[in-house]
Amino acid sequence: LLSGLHAIASAATAEDASEVGTALTILYGSQSGNAEALSKDLRKFAKTQGFEASVAALDDVQLSDLSAINHLLIVTATFGEGEPTDNAAKFYAALMDENAPALPETLNFSICGLGDSSYAEFNKAAMDIDARLAELGALRANDPVFCDVDFEDDYAEWKTAAFDSEAFKSAAGVGSAPEPAGAAPGFDKNHPFMATLMASERLSGEDSAKCVNHIELSLAGGGEDLDYAVGDALGVWPLNCQNEVSAILAACGFSGKESIELKSGPARLKSALLTRLDLTTVTPKTLEAWGIEGVSQDMQIIDVLRSGDVAELNPQVLVDGLRPLQPRLYSISSSPKKHPGEVHLTVGEVRYNLNETARKGVASTYLGERLGDGGMVGVYVQKSAHFHIPADDAAPLIMIGPGTGIAPFRAFLEEREMREAPGKNWLFFGDQHEACDYLYREQIETWQQSGLLNKASLAWSRDGADKVYVQTLLKQDGQEIFQWLEDGAAIYICGDASRMAADVDKALRDILQLNGGKSKEEADAYMDMLVATHRYQRDVY
Ligand code: 2AM
Repeated sequence: LLSGLHAIASAATAEDASEVGTALTILYGSQSGNAEALSKDLRKFAKTQGFEASVAALDDVQLSDLSAINHLLIVTATFGEGEPTDNAAKFYAALMDENAPALPETLNFSICGLGDSSYAEFNKAAMDIDARLAELGALRANDPVFCDVDFEDDYAEWKTAAFDSEAFKSAAGVGSAPEPAGAAPGFDKNHPFMATLMASERLSGEDSAKCVNHIELSLAGGGEDLDYAVGDALGVWPLNCQNEVSAILAACGFSGKESIELKSGPARLKSALLTRLDLTTVTPKTLEAWGIEGVSQDMQIIDVLRSGDVAELNPQVLVDGLRPLQPRLYSISSSPKKHPGEVHLTVGEVRYNLNETARKGVASTYLGERLGDGGMVGVYVQKSAHFHIPADDAAPLIMIGPGTGIAPFRAFLEEREMREAPGKNWLFFGDQHEACDYLYREQIETWQQSGLLNKASLAWSRDGADKVYVQTLLKQDGQEIFQWLEDGAAIYICGDASRMAADVDKALRDILQLNGGKSKEEADAYMDMLVATHRYQRDVY
């Protein structure tokens, strides 16, 4: 694992700095791909500053590697309840260990954290890593920056400051290359492609507790920036709901025709509310801009506006308290080999009650109810950092994806169908009721008949007297699961992170002990081996 990093790093030693730049190590902890994308941008920028950088995930290095590094930049997200990302978890654990080795003063580092202040443990993983590196003796080249959701500006400032720091400036090679100019801007997060809705079909039945939609978008004319692989995600820029915009305008007594300033320039209030601003989340910025002390946890923007607590609100103050609308990422549920020029999504509409008021998710309901046939939506492909189908078509696959977690596995199975891959495939799927929640039933049954799908284990949690979950079935077939693993199977999990993925992880460790005859330590080591050989991959949220 490390050899790659060492190979690149040693290609750029200090002696040849005049030609290729000073060695720099860039490490990322990425869950949805943002931190990884930034680390690649960082590498390019580093080149213009006289550095030759190697890029790797935090988990691809050992703590002992750090002592040999002089210049280190880390970009890392925080996941869930303040946890490190899946590809930084081991590094994090080793660093936090009380026996972690001291680090030399020759290690100059700087950290950029990606977080979300609407979670309690804002940027915790990045803050912990920053504090611990310093505690162990490494030197901060410049102050860390902890970004909140829309990270672009803060990231750009941090990047400039890092390379302007004394430690970096004094070491920069003289071979700095100019930033490549005039490259055609491709389709990315900030330059989305306008995709056309070709089809939208409700997958869940009338009686289902959820409304899950199958969405088909045309990527025709988008070119290679929109090439995707199974396992990748699609970023979707939603528009807010007209009714919510009207409710906010009414609560403030504004018409919507007022002029306001956004970071990007002047705009009309109504169009800014519809297309540019997050109308839901109360953040520290909201409290500051609106001059209020604090609000209860269960209040959203509209509740605060209606509460009458905001003393003096004019249209500019209103928008100053709102954060920018962000794209949402969805696991792609199609194979480009089966559907060239198209991308499919499997989207559950987010609807919930808060303070006795019905609320809805912006993007899921935009795709499901507001974007009509032939309508256009801004999208971009987010390459997956860590979720890839095996290159080896003969490898057996175990795919665990209840609910909308099925999305990437529909794509995997389509891909294997098109590749005529000989490897065995086993799908674990489930939800509340077979009658109304069996997503892609026809396609799955066709694959069972054709033999592409060797096994489909279906867990319906509310059809019988006892709850049946995917991990229930996994354990029932523990012996066979163990045999598949011994035969080289790769395991994939997609879906709910907090309960399902954690319980499935535990079930797998139980199986290794019960059916594989391993001790707890051996079972953990086996799982570590699966992770290290990319045979245990998760796309959980
Ligand atoms: P339940 O709500 O009937 O308990 C999608 O939400 C499906 O995941 C539902 O069938 C739900 O069951 C099930 N589910 C709930 N908790 C789970 C857990 N810890 N592990 C696996 N599945 C779970």
